Amino acid sequence: MAEQQEGTGAGGGEGPRHVAIIMDGNGRWAQARGRPRLFGHHAGAKRVREIVEACPDLGVKYLTIFAFSTENWKRTQKEVAGLMSLFRRYIQKEAEDLFRRGVRVRFIGDRVRLEPKLVDLMDELELLTAGNDRVHLTIALNYGGRDEVARAARRMAQDVEAGRLKARDVNEETLPRYLDTCVLPDPDLVIRTSGEARISNFLLWQSAYAEYEFIDTLWPDFTAEVFARVVARYGRRERRFGAVLGE
Ligand code: IPE
Ligand code: IPE
Ligand code: MG
Repeated sequence: MAEQQEGTGAGGGEGPRHVAIIMDGNGRWAQARGRPRLFGHHAGAKRVREIVEACPDLGVKYLTIFAFSTENWKRTQKEVAGLMSLFRRYIQKEAEDLFRRGVRVRFIGDRVRLEPKLVDLMDELELLTAGNDRVHLTIALNYGGRDEVARAARRMAQDVEAGRLKARDVNEETLPRYLDTCVLPDPDLVIRTSGEARISNFLLWQSAYAEYEFIDTLWPDFTAEVFARVVARYGRRERRFGAVLGE
């Protein structure tokens, strides 16, 4: 039997160790209530605490959430500015609570395009929670899978140029060390809310063998109960990793 990836237990009834979520549908949620899109983003941000809190009981040690993609800059200036301000306020408001609840927070994505004030808050939160280990929450902000792989390739090329890495050592083991997610296990389960069945440039390399769940619920309606149900479904799946099981 092929060697299973560490920490994955599907088929055996165990839960996923790393769940990644594409939090989609805030705009439609607001629209359905006749409210502006930002109203939906605020409602969506409020959901995060409940989902993080549900993780330990479900055996989820790593939770990665997609908050803003490298493509989301294409939205109106008003929406982008509103989201950036929401991220700032979210960090300021939630930092202490995340710390007290034992959450270790990390950010992935390209920080270069983010405003310095936001980047400072992100750095501070990472530092504040660096000693925590109850749940590892990773927030993807200005994140794109292709951008991440391209940035990794650039840094590998720089290391080759500087003589720190040999071209023949560029392989499936070394490349992920240059990704933003280098310290994280690969996601076992990727959930996308809002009914869209696409991955929109999320964790492309890391999700090569993830299980996917596309659910109709809009992100602001995604409760701990819905989360638990989706996680339970994962335990009934059979992961094969290219092998024929039982041989
Ligand atoms: C997801 O909700 C949040 C972000 C992409 C920032 P959307 O804003 O994409 O909501 P819909 O898809 O328009 O409903
Ligand atoms: C993906 O949602 C990005 C986030 C949830 C942050 P989008 O709403 O941006 O994706 P598309 O445009 O439907 O592919
Ligand atoms: Mg969307």
